[in-house]
Amino acid sequence: MLQMERYYAERVGDMQGSDIRDAFKLTEDTNVISFAGGFPAAEAFPVPLIEEIMQSMFRHDYSGLQYGPTEGLEELRRQIALMMDAEGVPSEVENILVTNGSQQALDLVSKIFLDPGDYVLVEQPGYVGGLNAIGNYQGRKVGIPMDDDGLRIDIMANKLKDMAGKGQHPKFIYTVPNFQNPTGVTLSMERRRGLLDLAREYDFLILEDNPYGNISFGQEPLPHMKTMDEEGRVIYLGSFSKILIPGARIGWVVASPVVIRQLTIAKQGTDLCSSSLGMKLVLESVLSGKLDAHIESLKVIYRRRRDAMLEALARYMPSEVRWTHPQGGFFVWLRLPSYIDTKALLPFALDEEKVAYVSGKGFHVDGTGHNTIRLAYSQAPEAHITEGIHRLSKVIRRRIETAM
Ligand SMILES: Cc1ncc(COP(=O)(O)O)c(C=O)c1O
Repeated sequence: MLQMERYYAERVGDMQGSDIRDAFKLTEDTNVISFAGGFPAAEAFPVPLIEEIMQSMFRHDYSGLQYGPTEGLEELRRQIALMMDAEGVPSEVENILVTNGSQQALDLVSKIFLDPGDYVLVEQPGYVGGLNAIGNYQGRKVGIPMDDDGLRIDIMANKLKDMAGKGQHPKFIYTVPNFQNPTGVTLSMERRRGLLDLAREYDFLILEDNPYGNISFGQEPLPHMKTMDEEGRVIYLGSFSKILIPGARIGWVVASPVVIRQLTIAKQGTDLCSSSLGMKLVLESVLSGKLDAHIESLKVIYRRRRDAMLEALARYMPSEVRWTHPQGGFFVWLRLPSYIDTKALLPFALDEEKVAYVSGKGFHVDGTGHNTIRLAYSQAPEAHITEGIHRLSKVIRRRIETAM
């Protein structure tokens, strides 16, 4: 047999599999309560609406069965532009590229902006799919720590100064400002402004990835950084995965027409066009006028699950454990005492208590985070959440007691 590795491109060395995708396997055992995969709640999919659209979709119009334009169906781009207008980002059709999920947008943006060895600032912890897209194009990731208000802009300012002194200039920062994956935290208004100021001062772009922004539980969402962007420095990513269905694989990019054009050329070589079926399904869902009400119903479901998780954490977790208090989205982030390695703890959680989570280390670019955990509350009903957190607390408690 040929040793195929000999033929691989150099960039393959920078490619990493995702712990999280591996963690999906853990959800297959029905006895396990899993907080591992950050999937949307399947029982909340708008099945009647999708059935209705699917049935009527092909009567007079075959566009869902044909290849589509690389940029996306024009009417869908127009509808997305209207949605962005309503969220404070004035947009025209030329500002919108439809992608196969926002994951493809992360790949395409990395593809057109990164040369091997280029620096990219990333959240630490940050979304693994984004980190991997950057790694696939051999971007050098520089982690910026987070706290309960998101990115530590003060540390970032020092880092940028330090880097500039060494002639290192990041191309862009990758950030998930609302209800971040994996921590659930939101970048404060003051820090959004601070980030834009730093981007201007040090001349880098901002990649604003916002798949969870519409799933907010409380106050009015904070303005997108794209809203405050007068120069076209912000590239905004949106997605229908969390507000409609991920199976359609439809996301979008908002950027200046010149960037949309370049991304379109890159996309031509990747997949010619996004799934026409997916685009048509999403377009008809938007045109049905039912999407807003659907999103409101999702907020109720996820909010109850968030509440159940926070209540259970407060009730059961030992005092040594700290966690975030998300105001939207799917995730809570746990910090355990530093002597606990959550990856080593996972087999015990699975065997002894039948509960699963994702160890936080994989969300860190500098090898730290061994004592952290990402919990997704999106998939489990409230009773399971309470029981699952109770189980997890027992595993952690036992580990703390053995260390004493
Ligand atoms: C922060 C973030 N960005 C992007 C994605 C990719 O989403 P999709 O490709 O389904 O739009 C996800 C998926 O979980 C995510 O959490």
